[in-house]
Amino acid sequence: MAKATITILPDEPIGLIRPELHGQFIEHLGGCIDGGIWVGENSSIPNISGFRTDVLESMKKLRPPVLRWPGGCYADDYHWEDGIGPAAQRPRRVNIWWGQNVETNAFGTHEFIQLCRYLGAEPYLAGNVGSGTVREMRDWVEYCNFTGDSTLARRRASNGSPMALKVRYWGVGNENWGCGGNFCPEDYAAEYKQFATYLRDFSGTNLFRIACGPDGNNHDWTRRFFSKLGRFPHIQGYAAHYYCGTAGPSATEFDVNQWYELLEKATRIEKLICEQRQLMDEFDPQRKIGLLIDEWGAWHLPTPGRNPHHLWQQNTLRDALVAAITLDTFNRHADKLVMANIAQMANVLQAMVLTEGDRMLLTPTYHVFDMYRPHQGATSLRVEIDGPTISFPVGPEKRQLPALMASASLRGEKLLLTVVNPHASLPVEANIDLRRKAIGVSSKVLTHSEINAHNSFEEPGATVPSDALTNSNVDAVVFAPRSVTAFQIRVA
Ligand code: AHR
Repeated sequence: MAKATITILPDEPIGLIRPELHGQFIEHLGGCIDGGIWVGENSSIPNISGFRTDVLESMKKLRPPVLRWPGGCYADDYHWEDGIGPAAQRPRRVNIWWGQNVETNAFGTHEFIQLCRYLGAEPYLAGNVGSGTVREMRDWVEYCNFTGDSTLARRRASNGSPMALKVRYWGVGNENWGCGGNFCPEDYAAEYKQFATYLRDFSGTNLFRIACGPDGNNHDWTRRFFSKLGRFPHIQGYAAHYYCGTAGPSATEFDVNQWYELLEKATRIEKLICEQRQLMDEFDPQRKIGLLIDEWGAWHLPTPGRNPHHLWQQNTLRDALVAAITLDTFNRHADKLVMANIAQMANVLQAMVLTEGDRMLLTPTYHVFDMYRPHQGATSLRVEIDGPTISFPVGPEKRQLPALMASASLRGEKLLLTVVNPHASLPVEANIDLRRKAIGVSSKVLTHSEINAHNSFEEPGATVPSDALTNSNVDAVVFAPRSVTAFQIRVA
């Protein structure tokens, strides 16, 4: 059996793991909102004020710290005034990005905030730069946040919310290098300055303005954006997107090498974070600006039989490992990352839940988020792993993956160690050096005999974590192949 050593260094804290690193994202796209979250009050599907009860209850358990809306690409064609006031009078608009669906605007600002309140999530609104105006976005902030007696605040009150909605996170556009207006970095920096200048802190929310960062690890965008931005104070966050893509014909059909190929692509987010933060340091040496990854996840080829514009995809054990590898990577950069939002919460891309009519299932990715939840708000610790690597071919090329990947965090005497064994068929035995005495250990493992294991509406419990009872011994721990393990360890 392959052997490894995992050493946790409690005296080398990296930083507090902001709960926001486990953020979610919803967009008006396919079945994400319509049918996935929102069915309307008159639906036969059980709902609370129009929100699906099953999805609400499941997502509430995950306690998503932050929720981003309305896009995505949709954000730069969304006009917030369409989504307020009596639902029957809201305009019907064509969604130009996602299959030209007609959007009824039944789910607008107030519905979004209500959803956030149910879930206990901070709202994160993405404003419209591509087809909107500075005034429109500035007014949205006033409408949501102004505590005084302005016309917009009165309008909010007449729509049911006399209290300010206190939205702290505001994105100035989305993917403005592409669907958000096809700007070059210099032009977007000029737009950013103009928009951000007028976004005011109306209710002591400590407004957090977020600029659009690069598509993946594009250095040129970052360098040119910050060069043009100069010494501009109204920027608190800079958001990159990283989709690791796919390998193989579909979400559920892939061979062993394609299993490795995707997992290796997921590991590349670390290079992005390292290089982008280094670039940001050149322009922001005091590190006042946080880095966000406000869209990430696996993006498979369209599912046969589904509308290709709706980005519906199944979610397998392979996706669960993508999530675990990514969340572990975020922990290693807890000192720089301020938020991350997986794309997307329901029925789109790497979803937490899939719905069909009145049925719902939790995906393997949901279970990883649940297993990793105790990392939220804990202090990330440096972890060293000594072990072999896995080599695999991608066409004529040889690529490698570490035999084990992990991260650890500490809160008081509770240590959480999360470990991925990406090997498709072999276990790895590891000694875990905690540099502390373990008093009690319990663990949960997510694995399956099949690499493409997933949950279906017929068999929703096919891929779920199991409790592995252990004593206080963390020597010679065997990590099952194709697995994610979360150890909760009480340390002295
Ligand atoms: O999440 C789907 C799409 O991916 C988003 O709308 C866009 O921002 C990204 O390209």
